[in-house]
Amino acid sequence: MFLPGTMQINAKGHLEIGGCDTTLLVQEFGTPLYVMDEELIRHNCRIYRDIFARIYPHSQVAYAGKAFLTTAMCRLLAEEGLALDVVSGGEIYTALSAGFPADKMIYHGNNKTPAEIQLALNSGVGCFVVDSISELELLEELAAAAGKKANIYFRIKPGIEAHTHHYIQTGQIDSKFGLGLADGQALTAVERALKMPHIELKGLHCHIGSQIFDLKPFQLAARVMMDLINEIKEKTGFLIEELDLGGGLGIRYLNSDLPASVTDYLEKITAAVKERAAAHNLPLPKLLVEPGRSIVGEAGTTLYTVGAIKEVPGVRSYVAVDGGMMDNLRTALYEAKYEAILANRANAPKEQVVSIAGKACDSGDMLIWYIELPRLTRGDLLAVLSTGAYHYSMSNNYNRFTRPAVVFVQNGQADLVVRRESYADLIRNDIIPERMR
Ligand code: LLP
Repeated sequence: MFLPGTMQINAKGHLEIGGCDTTLLVQEFGTPLYVMDEELIRHNCRIYRDIFARIYPHSQVAYAGKAFLTTAMCRLLAEEGLALDVVSGGEIYTALSAGFPADKMIYHGNNKTPAEIQLALNSGVGCFVVDSISELELLEELAAAAGKKANIYFRIKPGIEAHTHHYIQTGQIDSKFGLGLADGQALTAVERALKMPHIELKGLHCHIGSQIFDLKPFQLAARVMMDLINEIKEKTGFLIEELDLGGGLGIRYLNSDLPASVTDYLEKITAAVKERAAAHNLPLPKLLVEPGRSIVGEAGTTLYTVGAIKEVPGVRSYVAVDGGMMDNLRTALYEAKYEAILANRANAPKEQVVSIAGKACDSGDMLIWYIELPRLTRGDLLAVLSTGAYHYSMSNNYNRFTRPAVVFVQNGQADLVVRRESYADLIRNDIIPERMR
């Protein structure tokens, strides 16, 4: 079994993460519990940062906050020297609250509201990734009113279909994100931006999708973007100086998954950029990447307590845990697949194939459809692996279940970074109108 980061099985046969025995973690913090291996997150940040700096010095890594963002995570990112990709007023607010520098934030989104844009302008967010001509016009107007000049990148659809679930594919022509290339939208947007007094066009951006194993679409996207930089220079005389190639590198969910390494990924995209720059006789742009999943995904583990076990004779065994689609939407939404370990008897032999069900009132609320595990009983502790990205950040209160706590573990120490929600939290914003009282 593939054990990511600091995960290991200790002498008691218990799963241990960051030097913390998971059976003790659940005694202290309860279940479901998101456990984040802090050492692995930091290691991944440093791998990206150091390798990128070595092979392409004029570069920057911006962590994609949508994968997992809390105030403690923002602190960690600031300590590791990463920039931050944000996509909402809420993410900007979270980062600002943690003291994360606004000028190192890159603000994405296909429908930023005027209030969100004003928050970003007033707090000094470093760069806006403009997604449409309509947004460009709004930004010019709001920047003028605020007496500011906004640095922008344009998000471009490079017209590339990456091999991943179609909900997490974004670079193709029929996508709600970005400006089209073939239809001339990108060039029109550039021409408009160059005439706007409160807009400073800095760069171009693309993001082709997520959980991608094959590096060819990334290389192709890099080439297409460099060709566009050349076309813009030829047609307008303006030289685009920065290129942000988005995120998307896949991670290991299953033992059989074989994602590309960060080194290989960075080498391939930088080679493509250098090759096209040379072909067009262009200076090398500043290059950015925006990894999310590949920084936090394998660092996260969700711990659940096993509850009801139900045999459907001749069909399957349902093992229900005390979480589900409230803390992990990915199986229901993307047919995602996971590995799991019996954390309190991690060396026990595998004896049965079971299906791990959540406890929400929805038949789609399954965590794992088929998995071989030891015989389970009520009270067992199940650890689902690679849940660090898009789990906490996509968690919800369906059925009025409370969101789990999040702990960072490292060197035998566990720090609570998000408190478990309480029932009181659930009704905090509810109002009974006067006439019903
Ligand atoms: N940059 C942009 C502009 C993005 O849209 C994304 C992800 C990233 C960077 C980070 O991509 P990553 O390195 O994490 O693949 N909820 C889905 C994933 C949606 C990804 C959206 N954009 C999931 O659970 O698989």
